[in-house]
Amino acid sequence: MEDENNTDSVSESNAKYYTLEEIKQHNMSKDTWLIIHDKVYDITSFLEEHPGGEEVLLEQAGADATESFEDVGHSTDAREMLQQYYIGELHMDDRNKESNKDIFITTSDNSSSWTTWLIPALAAAVVGLMYRLYVQEHKSS
Ligand code: HEM
Repeated sequence: MEDENNTDSVSESNAKYYTLEEIKQHNMSKDTWLIIHDKVYDITSFLEEHPGGEEVLLEQAGADATESFEDVGHSTDAREMLQQYYIGELHMDDRNKESNKDIFITTSDNSSSWTTWLIPALAAAVVGLMYRLYVQEHKSS
């Protein structure tokens, strides 16, 4: 069944997926879409109501506005307002850039935790060895 009128059911399981290419077409004041946190919003009717003005929204039209949206530090009210304009999800293929960043951060985290574990272990081994030598020398004298 087609769920065209998606205003009151914000469910991801039967969400419509849009490609970045498709979203880019909706970049004018008569037809404005935005991506925020991988979700797609049709904010055409919200442009005039936005307390921050329509210019800032139009600058991001047809593109990913997550960073600008977060930079402003929008209230919970503003976040709840988003739901009214939800039309679907950003296509998985177009999310790669974001998740690659995450993977990069996680890998560098992993390698640093490896070295933080290795250095104390080596230090402990050296101290243990010196202690054994000291005890042995003490016994023989
Ligand atoms: C559809 C998405 C958006 C919604 C629903 C929204 C909603 C709101 C709301 C309700 C406020 C009032 C303050 C608050 O409650 O936080 C606000 C303020 C503001 N918004 Fe947005 N906003 C959206 C997107 C954006 C984007 C993408 C930008 C930046 C490029 C932006 C820039 C601003 C600015 C600068 C203010 C502050 C206005 C002032 O205090 O003078 N907003 N927005």
